[in-house]
Amino acid sequence: MKTININIPNKEYKVHINNGLLFDIDKYIDVFREIVIVTDDFIPKQYLKVLKSKIANPLIFEVPMGESSKSIDIAYQIINEMIESKISRGALIIALGGGVIGDLTGFIASIYMRGIDFIQIPTTLLSQIDSSVGGKVGINSDNMKNAIGAFYQPKVVLIDPETLNTLSEKEFNNGMAEMIKYGLIADKSLFYDILEKDIHENIEYFISKCVEIKRDIVIKDELDTGIRQILNFGHTIGHALEQDSNYELLHGEAVSIGMYLMSDGFSYQKDLVQILNKYSLPYNHDYDKETIFNYIKTDKKVINNKLNIILIKEIGNGFIKTININEIKGYLR
Ligand SMILES: NC(=O)c1ccc[n+]([C@@H]2O[C@H](COP(=O)([O-])OP(=O)(O)OC[C@H]3O[C@@H](n4cnc5c(N)ncnc54)[C@H](O)[C@@H]3O)[C@@H](O)[C@H]2O)c1
Repeated sequence: MKTININIPNKEYKVHINNGLLFDIDKYIDVFREIVIVTDDFIPKQYLKVLKSKIANPLIFEVPMGESSKSIDIAYQIINEMIESKISRGALIIALGGGVIGDLTGFIASIYMRGIDFIQIPTTLLSQIDSSVGGKVGINSDNMKNAIGAFYQPKVVLIDPETLNTLSEKEFNNGMAEMIKYGLIADKSLFYDILEKDIHENIEYFISKCVEIKRDIVIKDELDTGIRQILNFGHTIGHALEQDSNYELLHGEAVSIGMYLMSDGFSYQKDLVQILNKYSLPYNHDYDKETIFNYIKTDKKVINNKLNIILIKEIGNGFIKTININEIKGYLR
């Protein structure tokens, strides 16, 4: 078992990573308090079943799988039903699922009666190495991804890598895109381990390495006004492509294309292509430049027509560069 402290001042919490951890949930939380569980209807039922067997009378919400559940309608529906069920400010809300469930549940926790406790039990690779840590929670507006949200840290993050055994290869590789990003922005040896080693045999090591990188960045800049932006490598174009595809491109797939486009003209591009190929991640994609540019123009990161982009000097060394919004066109090919 590995435990990582996320030492954000006054909001410290732990990330526990252990195979089979789900079966020991009662060691990590008080299972007799008022508990709400939010999950989605595609996640294998076995995980919810374990929680139900350990937790006394939880109120359970199963939302439809997919990005469309990060919506104000679903959040409002859950909040209303929690009020009708007399869920108090003393309750704990558990996110059991991938990044969609973590973002939605954390958002509800942040506003329900001005904030209640929440914990993350991430069950996709992407959510275990990225979205469950750092406290970004939120939902999408009709036209903008993550437009409505907050910074709201969980009380604890419980990672059971064995839940990844039921994840499809496509969804696993989707998470690999974020792992590759960590290597590119911050850790050269991680990058080459991802390229050369068997991820599945060393999954606990890889998950904890990523959580540590995210921790080191987030504790320096919880509210994303400086160095945390480095985590957005490939994401500005990625988010635009994701939206443009109507979420048919998975988040990690869109980020892979975004990272590739941002690597143009840099010598590391050939290694990036090699690693993306290893995990069947895309880097070529047909899109209309003007449409993608229009999405980027409305990105919440654009302020006064300026945008911070992330570039990679060499593998393991990312940096932030401020550009005029029109300059992003130079990266759209
Ligand atoms: N908050 C953050 O810091 C942050 C960071 C990165 C991404 N995100 C967000 O995360 C979301 C993407 O997360 P995701 O990739 O986990 O997607 P997701 O939550 O939609 O999960 C992907 C699919 O996997 C299924 N699933 C989940 N666990 C499973 C399991 N153990 N076995 C089998 N199937 C399982 C789900 O039902 C779903 O169909 C996006 O909305 C993105 O914006 C947030």
